[in-house]
Order: sequence, then structure tokens, then C-alpha cells
Amino acid sequence: MRFILIILLALSTASQAQHILPTPQSLKAQKGTFSFGKQVSVSVPDSKSYAVSYLSSMLAARGISVNVTSGKSAISLTVDKNIPAEGYVLDVQPKQIKVTAAGDAGFFYALQSLSQLFPSGTSTTISCALIEDAPKYSYRSFMLDSGRQYQKVSTIKKYLDAMAMMKMNVFHWHLTEGLGWRLEIKKYPKLTSTGAFVSQGKEQQGFYTQDDVREIIRYAANRNITVVPEIDMPGHAEAAIIAYPELSCFGDTTHIKGDAGFTQNIFCAGKPHTMEFLKDVLDEVCALFPSAYIHTGGDEAPKGNWDKCPDCQALIKRENLKNSGELQLYFSAQIADYLKSKGKKAIFWEDVLYSEGYKLPDNVVIHWWNWRAHKNTGLEQAIARGHEVICGTNYYSYLNFPVTPWKGYKESRTFDISDTYNKNPSNLSSSKPLVLGMSAALWGDNNVTESMIDQRVFPRIFALSEQMWHKGGLMSFASFYKIVQDKKSRFEKLGYEFGPGLRSEVPADYKWD
Ligand code: ACM
Ligand code: ZN
Repeated sequence: MRFILIILLALSTASQAQHILPTPQSLKAQKGTFSFGKQVSVSVPDSKSYAVSYLSSMLAARGISVNVTSGKSAISLTVDKNIPAEGYVLDVQPKQIKVTAAGDAGFFYALQSLSQLFPSGTSTTISCALIEDAPKYSYRSFMLDSGRQYQKVSTIKKYLDAMAMMKMNVFHWHLTEGLGWRLEIKKYPKLTSTGAFVSQGKEQQGFYTQDDVREIIRYAANRNITVVPEIDMPGHAEAAIIAYPELSCFGDTTHIKGDAGFTQNIFCAGKPHTMEFLKDVLDEVCALFPSAYIHTGGDEAPKGNWDKCPDCQALIKRENLKNSGELQLYFSAQIADYLKSKGKKAIFWEDVLYSEGYKLPDNVVIHWWNWRAHKNTGLEQAIARGHEVICGTNYYSYLNFPVTPWKGYKESRTFDISDTYNKNPSNLSSSKPLVLGMSAALWGDNNVTESMIDQRVFPRIFALSEQMWHKGGLMSFASFYKIVQDKKSRFEKLGYEFGPGLRSEVPADYKWD
């Protein structure tokens, strides 16, 4: 009987080793198991590192305390600069766990994998394995739309925690929208005193102070996550224009009707004080966010006002531009040049490339998104013009699109986890040197309030994090989905609520809100 139990335990811990998501590059089962006692000794290159604090809290949750020592230890973290950035080697042997990485990011991800080697339940015995791992892409992002909907700081931290577990490393924070400006800018207080309160929805009022932002940046950095802020321009700017009407072409303070979409009322490209305002905003943004990338939007900026505005038309003439489309290129180039002078790269949505002519500077990165309307245009134009690209096509990475129809999301704007896993255009079939990585997004259109986010994000985000991280071919969808389902209870224990993953799993009376 005892013999059978030992075999069963060995089998369950061994199969546990196969269940790391995103899937490591290489995992070899080794003989035996490692058993944690009540205390474990750990030697580390830097006791103040965030990886070490993560290790302590991860083990504390299982009743194991950590004793940091410079002598012989059961767990050792050793620096090896030959290992790729964010990569690691995790060698679990019966008497020792050896972790090797080039720095904190690799250690942190090794420990994230180690945490998944624990069986569900209370056992603290893990199977031995040798894992060698490194990410496919350096840019693995999740975007949250805090412009249309405001989320509490604690909610944002919850998603930063989830991102860390899925080895995602960029939090793209969409902070400004027609329905709300959420970032405190000291020089323009009405952006928040007025712009953060233009909408009346349940969770559409509020903003982040610069102290809130610093707290979120620190929290993210301790999880190997960079916060990339997005200040959308020249469109999606109605909230800023309601606060400061002189920033627009005609001083009009139109509100967006309903809870989605955008209007013609965009920042004026031709008025010098509007460009000064935007540069002032970027001064504060760059001082606040250490990220090398600043996202400056550029999507869905209708040109009706620019076509009629004397200031915009005068600028078109002065700069010898063809039309308002090329004016957006000129406008974007001024913004990118300004960011370049501050040592930053500028990310724009693909829309800036819908026109030709004025050349964008070499610090511009393109965010490919509009697969539904423009298929590969964003990707192809970016590569043709020599820009780096982030792949975040609305099919199948916009997680606000539900699995079955809801409110403004008709059947054609729905998808399930098998669509994402099998058909995501962003998951390119061949490698392209200019592609930096991939993104997932949760937009707030139609009032996706805080309590509705989990059921949209989970479990579909597992397919995206797998595509962002795992090098080489993907396993069959059936095998992958089985592992995802095994992860459900672990995530639920941590407070994440899974929605249905497949269309066939959605009950007829399922509520997306
Ligand atoms: C976008 O979805 N408007 C970038
Ligand atoms: Zn104008």
C-alpha cells in the first residue's frame, strides 16, 4: 500500500512539472523529489532584490520560512551573464535547487516557474526537473483602458500580479480618452478637476495622482513590469478639450454620446499653444514614468475639423503637406522628435501610417491593431518604413470582446480561447527582426466595469501569454486547454474569476455583466 502511495505521489508531482504556463523552452524531468521543511536556506547575490522578496512571500504562503545565508544553502541563486535577459536555468535536484540567471528578471521568472511545480493542495514536495527557459519576445504587454473606465489602484495591482504570473513585462496604461482624462498633470489642473469627471457612468469618475502613479510603477518594477503610459493624441481627446477648449480647432466642447466611440473633436495640429500644451504634458509624463517607451496613441483621429480649420490648413501649406492625413504624420513626427530629445521612443497606433509622405523619426514604434478593418496593413507598413512593431490585433487579443454577444458586441465581435490560440494574426508564423513583441488589451467601451474584467481576461489571456513567451511551436489546443483548466483553481484561490473559455461552455443565460 505504502509503495503504491509513493508511486502515486511521484506520478502526481512529476506530471505537475509539465504544467508550467507559459510553457518553458525546455523541461526535463529528473529523478527524485525535493521536499521543503518548515525553513529553507537560500543564498543570493543580492538580498535586497525583488526576486528574493518574491521567493520569501511565495514560500511563506506555503508555511515555509526563508533563511538567507552566504554559506551552503538548499536554494542557490547564482548570476551568469551568459544567460539571455529574462531567461533562467532552474535545476531542481533531491537535495538542492539551483537557479541561474543574468539578473533579477531571470531569477523572478525562475521562481514563478518554481511556484508552479508545487502540487495543488498542501504538499511541499516537488518533483525534480531541469528547466532552461527564455522568452520569445522582449515586449509582452497587457493594456488596461483606465480612460473610459476608472479602476482602483488595488485593481491595477491585481492585474500586475496576474501579469507577473504569466511572465508578461509591460503594463500599457491607457490613461486618456474622450470619456475621461485620468492622469494628474500639475501644470494643467483642469485636466483632472474637469476632464476626469466628464462621464457619469458608475466607475467613470476619478483620476490617478502622481503619487498613485509612482506607487504603481514601483509595484510593477518589483514584478519585472515596465509601465508604459499612453496619452492619446490627436484623437480620443474630448475630455482634455472639455477642460481646455482652446486646444481644439474651434473651441467646441462636445461630449461623447453614450459609452463608446469618439467624435471629430480632436487636438488642433495648427495652433502653436496646443503643441506647447502637449509638450508640457509629455515633460511631466517623462519625469514620472522611467519607461524607455511612451505611447502617444494616434488612432481614430477623424480629419473633419483639420480639413476646415484655418490654422491646420495654414500649417499644411507652410510645410508643403498634401492634406490632413499627412498633417497627422507631421504632428506625430513633432511629438516623436520631442520624445527623442528626452531619450524616449514613441509608440503610435498603426493609424499614423495610413497616410504617406512626411517621414517619421527613427524612434517611432508602431502598434499594429486593426486587423478587423485593415488586416496586415499596420504590420506591413511599419516594416516597409523601417519601424519596430508591437503586434496587438483586435482579432484575437482585445479581451473586452466577449466570447458571446453582449451589448454593442455583436457575434462578429466575439471570440473564444481556441480562436486566440489557433488564429491570432499577431502570432506570426515566421520571425521578423523588427517585431518587438505582442500585446493583449482590455478596453472599457460599453462600460466594462471592474467586476466584469476577470471573466473577459481569464482564461483567454493564457493563450496570449503562451504566444508571447514560448519559443518554437505550440502544442495542440486540446493539450493546452487541459493545462489552462488545471490552472483555474490556483488562480481562483488567488481571487481571479474565470469566464467561459470556449463558446460551447457559455450557458444560455450567462451574464457578461
Ligand atoms: C484602438 O483599438 N482604437 C487602438
Ligand atoms: Zn486646427
